[in-house]
Amino acid sequence: MSEFTTVASLDDIPESGLKTVQLDSINLVLVKRDGRVYALEDRCSHEEFPLSAGEVTGDQITCVLHGARFDLASGAPKALPAVLPVRTFECRIQGDEVQVRL
Ligand code: FES
Repeated sequence: MSEFTTVASLDDIPESGLKTVQLDSINLVLVKRDGRVYALEDRCSHEEFPLSAGEVTGDQITCVLHGARFDLASGAPKALPAVLPVRTFECRIQGDEVQVRL
């Protein structure tokens, strides 16, 4: 299992907003909400469109291309046309650093 890697400063991510980062050639979208940060692969499971182009509503992120929604914590699909989850990664806050483990 890999180690946690610092990928962003907590202040870099607006509340209920997004930030994209790349870690080991994987594009990630970070979402900050209610004192937590979630890390998802920045690729919709429907047609691989970047989720970072979408928006966060509550505990879900919506893909802007066709409207699929995914749970921030699990990546599970919550609305069609997506039927497969997006990958999520363990994420933690250490001081003001956001760290992800692939
Ligand atoms: S590519 Fe995301 S819903 Fe179609």
